[in-house]
Amino acid sequence: TFAPMRIVLASPEAVPYAKTGGLADVATALSKALAGAGHEVTLVLPFYPRSPAVQAAPPPLDAGRPIEIPVGGKRQPGRLLQTSLAGTGVRVVMVDQPVYFDRPGLYGENGRDYPDNCERFVFFSRAVIEAVRVLELNPHVIHANDWQTGLLPAVFQIECRWLPGFEETVVIYTIHNLAFQGQFWHWDMELTGLDWKYFNWRQMEHYGHLNLMKSGIVFSDAVTAVSPTYAREIQTKEFGCGLETVLAAHQKKLTGILNGVDTGEWNPRTDAFIARHYSVDDICSGRPHGKSACKADLQRRVGLPEHEGALLVGMISRLTDQKGLDLLAVCGEDLLKHDLQLCFLGSGEARYEQLVGELAARHPDRVAATIGFDEPLAHQIEAGADAFLMPSQYEPCGLNQMYSQMYGTVPIVRRVGGLADTVVDATPENIAAGTATGFCFDKHEPSELVATVERAARTFADRQSWKSLVTAGMRQDWSWDRSARQYVEVYEQALARRGGAITKQ
Ligand code: ADP
Ligand code: GLC
Repeated sequence: TFAPMRIVLASPEAVPYAKTGGLADVATALSKALAGAGHEVTLVLPFYPRSPAVQAAPPPLDAGRPIEIPVGGKRQPGRLLQTSLAGTGVRVVMVDQPVYFDRPGLYGENGRDYPDNCERFVFFSRAVIEAVRVLELNPHVIHANDWQTGLLPAVFQIECRWLPGFEETVVIYTIHNLAFQGQFWHWDMELTGLDWKYFNWRQMEHYGHLNLMKSGIVFSDAVTAVSPTYAREIQTKEFGCGLETVLAAHQKKLTGILNGVDTGEWNPRTDAFIARHYSVDDICSGRPHGKSACKADLQRRVGLPEHEGALLVGMISRLTDQKGLDLLAVCGEDLLKHDLQLCFLGSGEARYEQLVGELAARHPDRVAATIGFDEPLAHQIEAGADAFLMPSQYEPCGLNQMYSQMYGTVPIVRRVGGLADTVVDATPENIAAGTATGFCFDKHEPSELVATVERAARTFADRQSWKSLVTAGMRQDWSWDRSARQYVEVYEQALARRGGAITKQ
């Protein structure tokens, strides 16, 4: 029997309003998929008045329920603005507080975090719960995401769990990236408004600091990580970022659920940003197809020679160690020993922006580098490249390797996290079986990356094998429905554990 749930999803970012990474895609796509499955979904995020997308959209309406949030000794006022996600049943509530969110960046500027990030997101976490209360959302599930909402489960369990309207509510917490924990000096505990007794090593304290990620993990009814492999990895020292024992201790409530792809945004048959549309059937037909046109278009756009036979390798990424830029720093030149072109799009650490910029300057006919954030170009690279590079140090899920497969662009990845769960290595056996979709390597070492790109270049020269990789990737199903169903299962199990089942109307 289908029981629709009321779900509140709290996220510091969501497309189209604000985005620094995959979390923004996921918050929106998951909300849409849950609403599409018949649930009543409210997405809550901060109101960022400087975001171009927020400025371009019709202004959201004031819900007429002003709030006041205790933050440390202050009471900080806020407004709740309402809108909806275009073309969906998802209600959007934005928490407006200009002191905290009327800024050029989401979390910082010029590579520096805002010094009051703890205060900003203590405010936001409490504001979500207050919004739930004053808007009488009466949810079955409050779903928090990443450190920015890590305080929410703690406030919920400590202050709200037994209040009217919350008796049958559960709190779910999703880890998108364990490396960002919201770790602050101990005196910031005062900002949370919670008793110092919770500042202990089993709950909110971590080696003397306040740790919001840890708080979220400890206090939530269920925890998810964004891929099954990452859910296992984070219980180990190598990937646990110091929280491995906490995660192992809470292992029973931890599940890995793979992200999906918002096929309304990413689909080579309908993508508004690309030169020509194409489908897997076009590629199979043997006739000239849209993907070749997209390749030529990309080469023109980024100023690379229009050379059909060169393996064009794309990379779209935050330029950080996480994404394997440290490997490229060592072996960038070695990669160019093969007949290939490299097309970078990204922004991030200055040293890595410089690195890819210099590589392009030294090899203008082989390497193109665009520094910045460019949504249309991201789509054009996915469509125009032959292969896509993700040599990540760690990767909770990763979205681009899935976008790539949909666009017939073969991913070259390190076998970690979500990359391990979504890419099948092109071993001779897998190619023969038609299951191979990409190239994987294990060790975080430049020589392995070079050898794997070499392997890709060799396979590219063998048209039949390459086509089998391309088409196997394009036939995968990355739709959100499957992941959304798994989240619903996690919600239902947590509700059942709470004893309420879904009885409340
Ligand atoms: P992460 O969240 O760790 O950065 P993901 O792979 O989950 O990694 O998501 C990254 C998202 O951000 C993808 O949608 C990707 O296309 C996009 N992206 C990253 N850098 C850029 C950029 N410079 N321009 C446009 N889109 C980008
Ligand atoms: C994080 C991870 C990325 C994941 C995204 C969305 O930013 O780094 O791997 O895909 O969150 O869950």
